[in-house]
Amino acid sequence: MGLVEDTPRPRRGLSDLMSRWQTDLISRPGFQAWAARFPLTRGLVRRDGERLFDLVAGFVYSQTLFACVQLELFEDLAAAPKAPLTLALARGLTEQRMTALCQSAAALGLIKRRRDGRYALARLGAALIGVPGLIEMVRHHDILYRDMADPVALLRDEVETELAGFWPYVLGQTQAAPEDGVVQQYSRLMAQSQAMVAQETLQTVSFAKAQVVMDVGGGTGAFLRHVQVAYPKLKTILFDLPDVVTGAEGMEAIGGSFLDPLPRAADTITLIRVLYDHTDETVDHLLRNVFDALPAGGRIVISEPMSGGAHPARATDGYFSFYTMAMRTGRVRSHSEIAEKLERVGFADAQIAKTGRPYVTSVVMAEKA
Ligand SMILES: C[S@@+](CC[C@H](N)C(=O)[O-])C[C@H]1O[C@@H](n2cnc3c(N)ncnc32)[C@H](O)[C@@H]1O
Repeated sequence: MGLVEDTPRPRRGLSDLMSRWQTDLISRPGFQAWAARFPLTRGLVRRDGERLFDLVAGFVYSQTLFACVQLELFEDLAAAPKAPLTLALARGLTEQRMTALCQSAAALGLIKRRRDGRYALARLGAALIGVPGLIEMVRHHDILYRDMADPVALLRDEVETELAGFWPYVLGQTQAAPEDGVVQQYSRLMAQSQAMVAQETLQTVSFAKAQVVMDVGGGTGAFLRHVQVAYPKLKTILFDLPDVVTGAEGMEAIGGSFLDPLPRAADTITLIRVLYDHTDETVDHLLRNVFDALPAGGRIVISEPMSGGAHPARATDGYFSFYTMAMRTGRVRSHSEIAEKLERVGFADAQIAKTGRPYVTSVVMAEKA
């Protein structure tokens, strides 16, 4: 634990010159052709080539996964290995097209090809079924892919993104009732994908000294259900928008907006996958409300995917930052950015706790002195 510095230090002088020389050299086609033949650089050039190819092809790989999910291929193969013709007939595809999809999925390690020509589930495909909420996560990605069809327009803020409609609260639509089913749709997706986030958070943070935990923006209570299993004697309170908490059963729940003063009812407040949905202004406002609601000695626990800051990370800087951009208001923040925000509203000694799976979530916590 400890603060990670992510303010860039200016790199000048010799290291800039070296870096410029290296870039000029590597980007010359003649050097690339020579390095691909030279025994000491051949392996490196091949690996770089493969990585670049994967980046160019990445969207097609993602769409292969999407097609497998849409066609429920993994569930089918989990029951028994099957021949392409059998799989094709059940899905209205030709055998040739089904084989193309199976070959692609097998190349990606999702399924495997048997000697007899049938296909079976591979470890990755089996894990995909086993990880709660992952299939649903993949399924809702068609929206993100459409929003990212013109990434430059997205960066210029020229796209009316569909993801903003999937998460209606991000544009401040917290008072008017959203369209039928919208709240249920996002709440279901969050609840299904909560298991891994809760596992990581509970492995990283101890709630043993807490008396009452209030989960703000807690959806339909999936995180608190995990907390209750780990700490059966702990009192828990769920706080979310009124339309959302109506979907929570079997727990104390309060409906309201976290932009209004929060109930002073808990000594520990958790914010799980909440901050990255919102602008800095909203986040600062929310953190101030949490600070005001906690007693002296109370604790705030923030758990969500965080930017790698000085060490950019694929899952968060590469993926979640664009996801939150398509949501319109959100942003992936680094541990130290969040820690600074906490200290600015009055929290003391913000602690960064690295989790085992930072692509799932990371944790920052602090105390009210
Ligand atoms: C990305 S979801 C995360 C849900 C849950 N914490 C989880 O990790 O599964 C964000 C949650 O914040 C809630 N939320 C958004 N704006 C809110 C507001 N102004 N007041 C209270 N809750 C809000 C949403 O309804 C939603 O349940």
